[in-house]
Formats: sequence, structure tokens, C-alpha cells
Amino acid sequence: MQNLILIVEDEKNLRCVLAAVLTAEGFQVLEAENGEQALAIIASNAPDLILTDQRLPGLSGTELLRNIKATHPEIPVIITTAYGEIEQAVEAIKAGAEHYLTKPVDEGELIALIRQTLGRRGRSLPPMRQEPRRHGLIGVSRAIEALLETIDLVAPAPSNVLITGESGTGKELVARALHQASNRADQPFVAFNCGAIPLELVESEIFGYEKGAFTGATRTQAGKLEMAGAGTLFLDEVGDMPLAMQVKLLRALQEREFTRLGTHQPLRMLARIVAATHMDLAKAVAEGRFREDLYYRLNVIPLHIPPLRERRADIAPLVHHFLEQICSVIGSSPTVTISSEALAALEAYEWPGNIRQLENLLERMVVLNRHGHIQRQDLPPDICQQNAGAGGSGTASPFDLPALERQTVLSALEKTRFNQSQAAVLLGISRKQLRTKMKNIGLLGDQDSEEDNLDN
Ligand SMILES: Nc1ncnc2c1ncn2[C@@H]1O[C@H](COP(=O)(O)OP(=O)(O)OP(=O)(O)O)[C@@H](O)[C@H]1O
Ligand SMILES: [Mg+2]
Repeated sequence: MQNLILIVEDEKNLRCVLAAVLTAEGFQVLEAENGEQALAIIASNAPDLILTDQRLPGLSGTELLRNIKATHPEIPVIITTAYGEIEQAVEAIKAGAEHYLTKPVDEGELIALIRQTLGRRGRSLPPMRQEPRRHGLIGVSRAIEALLETIDLVAPAPSNVLITGESGTGKELVARALHQASNRADQPFVAFNCGAIPLELVESEIFGYEKGAFTGATRTQAGKLEMAGAGTLFLDEVGDMPLAMQVKLLRALQEREFTRLGTHQPLRMLARIVAATHMDLAKAVAEGRFREDLYYRLNVIPLHIPPLRERRADIAPLVHHFLEQICSVIGSSPTVTISSEALAALEAYEWPGNIRQLENLLERMVVLNRHGHIQRQDLPPDICQQNAGAGGSGTASPFDLPALERQTVLSALEKTRFNQSQAAVLLGISRKQLRTKMKNIGLLGDQDSEEDNLDN
């Protein structure tokens, strides 16, 4: 039987919820309401993973855990503890628990943890379901959280959006997220790249044409604006649009009407325009390369995506996400893992090509990998070299205290899949102290640590 999970929880409602969540994720589930029942089930039908409450009537979670470790040491156990029962959590980890989760259990975290735990044991996992609110955007930085909030806020509005950000920062992903989160999600999302296309072609592509409109127009063809209907037209690299086309687009936006080339029959424009550019459009306006009036029309809601080097906290979760995704696509099981030193080097690198560059690098690393594990020496030299100057740990002396501390903090974060509360417990420090350390070693920006004043 594949991916059988035993849930041990005395509170019936919670047990049912957990069972429903895991079943929906494609796992098979068995339930027990106390430790004794759990042991009986395990004896007849060994599960692949056990999720148990710490506080149970009769046998406690930790006692159950010790029992399991004695008879079935290979079965990973995740313990859930009430908030504040940190002592028990530490005790459980010492007794061999794979992880612990504090109640109320965060569904996303639970699923991620279970997938990670089973994945590491080479199990094939059910396909991942997207966590709806995150729109496929991975990241833990303030910047990503703010972006997600803005997406939810502006998605329902019909207003035009201008997404700016360096190449590879996720502009198209955000445009798609806006569409998905809007009430236009059941309408088409049509993307058009305005870059390096001559005027006549841009025009016929966006507005469409009638048969005979120009030489070669052998049939009538709807344009992107028409194809988008009442959905979203994504105008990528809008900064590269020829000036003459900018005038025509502006007119269409103002009049909410357009015509196919070769006809005067007006068509209503219903689509929402989401534009994106990697250039500084305000500067392009100042230099006369982009029309000011069109700029204001498109820039009703500006969304800026900062480069990856300004949100280094996102690098580690992105690395884990891409490793899992790439391995599942190319069918490499178990998921290729990465050493803390290699991860530290990736975190210190500047990433001129941003997330796209990181994704491509990881794909190469996975494909070329022979050991199922990426180490620092496997990385391209330019990435390691940059790291050496930025306080990397790989070449550190054994007495380099800051490097060792960085290493330890990173391992704790990795082990807990970047759950800061759990990492703090492993390190024996408060979450606030952990965040200060993370800030000192560049894992959190100054803005990120403002949160400390709010939640600690
Ligand atoms: N926050 C994120 N979480 C997960 N994947 C991301 C994230 N941001 C970007 N990506 C991925 O990185 C790649 C590049 O993103 P995308 O194509 O949206 O960037 P872009 O800004 O449009 O880049 P370009 O300027 O090169 O066109 C895509 O594969 C995308 O899925
Ligand atoms: Mg793009």
C-alpha cells in the first residue's frame, strides 16, 4: 500500500479534519483515537508515516513514539503539540520524532512536512495541489507577502496593472496570478510579447485583421485583444512597443473600442490589461521613448517585484521548491537534496538573472547529478567565488565562529523546512533571537525583522 498515514488524535473533530485534508492530498489514512489503538493498528498494518498528538489519554505521544521506535524504527513520526509545550516537543525530537508541529496545525505546513519526509525516503508522492492563496508564488520574504496581499486586493478590480521588475523576477507568474485571483479566471488569459516586433506586425497581432487587409492576409484573424475577450491581455515587455503602436493602444484604451485592420467595424474592448516591463518606464517617458499618457493609463496599479538579491530569504524555499518540482518532472526519485554549504553559496550569490537563473541552474545541477545530493563543489565556480567574498562558510577555518553559527542556523532552518519557531526550538533559543541571527547573517532584510516588534 502506498503512502499510508496513521493519524493518532483523541479529539474527534480534529482527527476528522486532518484525515479529510490528507485524503484530499492523495494520501491513504488510518485513524486511531489513542496510543493503544495505534499500536494495534501498526502491528497489523504498518503505515508509512505516523502523525500523533503529544497529549493523549493513556499512552502519551512520546511514549507511543518510543514504542514505535523500538519495534518499527523506520517509520517516521511527526508529533503535534499544544502551543507552549516546547519542552515536550524537544523531548519528542530527542526520542526520535522526525518533526513536531504546534497546534493549531497549519495545513500547508503539515502537507509540506509529510511530503518532505516521505520524499526523503524515496516514496513516490501524489501530485502536489496548489495552495490557492499563494498563487504558486514561493517565498517567505516581506516582499513576497506584500505582493500576495496586493494581488488579492487588486485582482477583482478592472483597473490596468503595470508590473515592473528585472528579467526573471516572476512578472509573468504574477500576471497569471492576478488573472487567476480575479473574477475573470474563467475567461482567457492571453499573453503577447511586444519586444522586438515591427509595427505592422504588432498592430495586426493585437487588433487582428480582415481577409485582404494587406498582402498576405488570406483570411480574417482575430487579434489578441479580441481573443482575450472579457479576460486578461498580458502585454509583456510593453516598454519595447513601437511609438506609433502606443498611440493606437492608448486610443483603444480610452474609447474601450478597437477595430480589426481592414475594417471600420468597432469591437468592444472588455479585457483587462496587465502590462509588464523590465525597463524603467518613467525614465523612458522622460527620454521620449514611451508616451506619457499611455504610461499613466497602464500604470493605474503599479506592482514592483524586487530582484532576488534584495530578498535573499526567498532563496532557500525557492531552492527546495524547484528541487522537488524538477525531480518530479524528470522522474528522479528520491528528490535531490542540497548541502547547507551549497545552499549558503546560493544565498550569497547576486543572481543577475533572478529566479529564472536559479531555476535553470538547479535543473542543470539535478540533471548532471550522480549522487542525489548537491554539494558546494558541484556549483559553478562563479557562484562559489562570489560567496567567498561575501562571508561564505565553505572555505572557513574550523574556528571561524560566525561561519559556524551561520552553518548551524541554516541547518536548523533546513531541517524544519524554514519553520522559524521549530528551528528556534532545535537551536535552544527564542524565535526572536533566531530572527536576529537570521538578520545578522543576511537571511532576513531589515524590513523583515520589523515583524519582531509585532509578534514577539
Ligand atoms: N516567487 C516565485 N515562486 C516560484 N516560482 C517563481 C517565482 N517567481 C518566478 N518564478 C519562476 O521563475 C521563472 C521566471 O518567472 P517569469 O517568467 O514570470 O519572470 P519574468 O519576470 O516574466 O522574466 P522575463 O523578464 O525573463 O520574461 C518562471 O519559471 C516562474 O515560474
Ligand atoms: Mg516574462
